[in-house]
Amino acid sequence: MPTTTRVEGRTAVVTGAASGIGAALAAQLGARGMAVVVADIDGDGAQQVADKLRADGIRTLGVRVDVSDPESVATLAAAGYAEFGSIELLCNNAGVLLFGSVAESSMGDWKWLSSVNVEGMLNCLHAFLPRMRASSGWRHVMNTASTHAFLPDPGKTGLYSATKHAIVGISLGLRSELAADGIGVTILCPGQAATRILDAQRNRPDSFGRHADEPYGIGVIPMAIDSDAVARTAVEGILRDDPLVFALPEYGRDQFRAQVEKQWRLADNALRADIGDQPLP
Ligand SMILES: NC(=O)c1ccc[n+]([C@@H]2O[C@H](COP(=O)([O-])OP(=O)(O)OC[C@H]3O[C@@H](n4cnc5c(N)ncnc54)[C@H](O)[C@@H]3O)[C@@H](O)[C@H]2O)c1
Repeated sequence: MPTTTRVEGRTAVVTGAASGIGAALAAQLGARGMAVVVADIDGDGAQQVADKLRADGIRTLGVRVDVSDPESVATLAAAGYAEFGSIELLCNNAGVLLFGSVAESSMGDWKWLSSVNVEGMLNCLHAFLPRMRASSGWRHVMNTASTHAFLPDPGKTGLYSATKHAIVGISLGLRSELAADGIGVTILCPGQAATRILDAQRNRPDSFGRHADEPYGIGVIPMAIDSDAVARTAVEGILRDDPLVFALPEYGRDQFRAQVEKQWRLADNALRADIGDQPLP
């Protein structure tokens, strides 16, 4: 079956879809004939994205959701199933970023990052998977991680990187688990995409304590890859059932490859040391 036909007439839920990569994913999936539930903690933003898709002839529903809250996610699932009857693609894309030192971070920083990036994904999996597993035909889950899950030195992003490592670990386990149900799982790893991620604290609830300093400003990331390009690469990966999709700017690829190789050398040297072999330079 041609890949686009596989998704035509089916329904996707995209979290974090009021902005950036999520909004671009919603548009790409809609352009391929899918109905799209546009879900975000920014309810007005979600409605605006949904309105734009509707104007382009795409069947859509904008919903406010806080993915860190299981009840809010249950309401999202109920709204999606009530409107479209079935959900075949779940894109767990909502995510927040925080810069800063691990030693000087607060537990509020960690709880906010992990409640959105990790627990948010789990809440959505728990809400949607039972019905997805009970149905048949093409079904898929995409979880947005980051190139930060592969860096040997995450610099001032240790906490964020930890949440993205968790997404990779959970997704790899999920992929083998769901293979028996015929449900694919793809991990999307963007790097330096032109979005509002540097201003993620705009949606940080006060319950997580003081906002951390944001030394990197609130503009879009310079020399970044366009969100549409990230979304296109992601959708192609989903349709091929790729386990892992990277989407980063051309100029950053060699640097990223070198970082991944350094990570592997660290592991390889540790293994060689363990068996008394000579470490690699
Ligand atoms: N931009 C990059 O360079 C980059 C790189 C690697 C990974 N990512 C990941 O891509 C994903 C999308 O981020 P983006 O870059 O498009 O940033 P963005 O800030 O433009 O979009 C993120 C969206 O998530 C929403 N969100 C935040 N908290 C939420 C919550 N509790 N419930 C529901 N929605 C919530 C925000 O309102 C926002 O609309 C994130 O998971 C991010 O970690 C981005």
